[in-house]
Amino acid sequence: MQAITATNSVLEIISSSIPLPQPDEVLVRTTAIGINYADLLIRKGIYPKPQPVMPGEIEGVIEQVGGNVKHLQAGQRVTGYATEGYAEYATIPASQAFLVPDDLPTGNGLLVQGLTAQHLLSQSGAPSSIIITAAAGGVGSFAIQLAKLKGIKTIIALSGSKEKQQYTSALGATHSLHYNDVIDMEANVILDAIGGGTAATLVAKLAPHGTMIVYGGTAMQPTNINVQQLMYRSNKIIGSTIYAVSFEQKQQWFNELTRLVREGKLAFPLTTYPFADAAKAHQAIEGRETRGKVALIV
Ligand SMILES: NC(=O)c1ccc[n+]([C@@H]2O[C@H](COP(=O)([O-])OP(=O)(O)OC[C@H]3O[C@@H](n4cnc5c(N)ncnc54)[C@H](OP(=O)(O)O)[C@@H]3O)[C@@H](O)[C@H]2O)c1
Repeated sequence: MQAITATNSVLEIISSSIPLPQPDEVLVRTTAIGINYADLLIRKGIYPKPQPVMPGEIEGVIEQVGGNVKHLQAGQRVTGYATEGYAEYATIPASQAFLVPDDLPTGNGLLVQGLTAQHLLSQSGAPSSIIITAAAGGVGSFAIQLAKLKGIKTIIALSGSKEKQQYTSALGATHSLHYNDVIDMEANVILDAIGGGTAATLVAKLAPHGTMIVYGGTAMQPTNINVQQLMYRSNKIIGSTIYAVSFEQKQQWFNELTRLVREGKLAFPLTTYPFADAAKAHQAIEGRETRGKVALIV
């Protein structure tokens, strides 16, 4: 089979043998691979990089089940995270596999970013205003729409270009701004994926009792703030990772998200590249050209 490895930060196609599922795993014939921002950091070796095949979020059809697996069978559509995911075939733990409804379009089961947005909104309480950074990205696109569905009145979407601002407005943001624009209002919640100077400036935009939820750091810079400043308005800064959420909780959110997508209440903005163009897809994300979810079609 074909698989993709990363050597010195460059993605390359290699030939590899089809993996055998362990007793608690399923072997999946991959139909789509979701690219998450973390994949860029894995490729560069900033996050731990297992060799040889790039890890990743996969969607596909079960080819074979391990000896201990009773609740899944060959032929079912599933999605999950594979330690060697950038490949035509990959194994995932059966206990972490989500069943994908048959009528869901290819790639729409790739929901790491959707689940992350659900998680962030679940940690947000019931705000009347929210600031979403990296708002045109995968997580951001879901977060805007979920915030709207949740009835949040003021949704301030921050992104890096005019074109992205039009896009975030179309998704439901009430205010679509550039990071450098002056924000003349306060927010109960800020979802921060950027860090550095952007996050440090945004902290001052928290309303009394407001919370900044830190879930990424694309600026690759520390956020230097004086924590004493949080005292005056009873503000909080908390961290958040989807990887600490139980499978049962994620399953509930997964069902909700796929229901909303199938009912046409949640758009799934998806840009696809052929499997062989994985490098181009990474370059586009790194060049800040993409919007919504990016996936490879196998
Ligand atoms: N904590 C968690 O559980 C969790 C889970 C998934 C993702 N994340 C984090 O969430 C953030 C967004 O992830 P994603 O998968 O939604 O990303 P994505 O779709 O690849 O989008 C990344 C966004 O970041 C913005 N950005 C700012 N600086 C950038 C840079 N130097 N290079 C590339 N993009 C840059 C880009 O928009 P602009 O050009 O408009 O700024 C882009 O829309 C990342 O920091 C990721 O690590 C966290």
